[in-house]
Amino acid sequence: MTKPLYSSLFFLFFVVVALFGILPNVKGNILDDICPTTLFPPLYIHGLLSTVLHIAQDNTTSTYKLVKSILKQPIKDPNVKAQLTNCLRNYNDAIDDLKRSNDFFKAVDYENTSLFSSYAVYESLSCNHGFNEVLSQLKQLSESVQEFCSISARIANNLKQSSHFT
Ligand SMILES: *[C@@H]1O[C@H](CO)[C@@H](O)[C@H](O)[C@H]1NC(C)=O
Ligand SMILES: *[C@@H]1O[C@H](CO)[C@@H](O)[C@H](O)[C@H]1NC(C)=O
Repeated sequence: MTKPLYSSLFFLFFVVVALFGILPNVKGNILDDICPTTLFPPLYIHGLLSTVLHIAQDNTTSTYKLVKSILKQPIKDPNVKAQLTNCLRNYNDAIDDLKRSNDFFKAVDYENTSLFSSYAVYESLSCNHGFNEVLSQLKQLSESVQEFCSISARIANNLKQSSHFT
């Protein structure tokens, strides 16, 4: 991962932490320091959401391809094979959900942006829940999908609540 992307991801988490009150005491201060919230908050957060959605889509497509490639190898355990087949459908649906989420985002319908990002989280979780133990190859990527789709859902939900200012 390149340095600029890494630091912008770090920055992103910083913003998300600040936004959603994981550090409630410093919430206002951090936001005031890092971006001119009094001037452009919805626009700024709108751009942030676009970035998060793109990472979520990228990770979801990668996971779909990964599941597909695992399925091409010989798999001894029929339960694992059946579950991987479910996962392929889950990630296919998650790709659709995120595409719709992104379309709603472009249409400035934050409510449905949030809703469809949540559906993608659900698809990824239901893939993982089908295993006694999530395949090691899938673990990191699926967690990334869940993380970024959840962040997208939360940011969109936050924008929905503030959208009467725009
Ligand atoms: C969200 O999408 C659903 C289904 O496409 C639609 O019926 C509903 O009106 C949308 N919600 C809003 C707030 O537009
Ligand atoms: C998720 O996507 C981003 C952006 O393309 C990428 O930098 C990151 O490595 C991906 N995450 C994983 C776990 O592969």
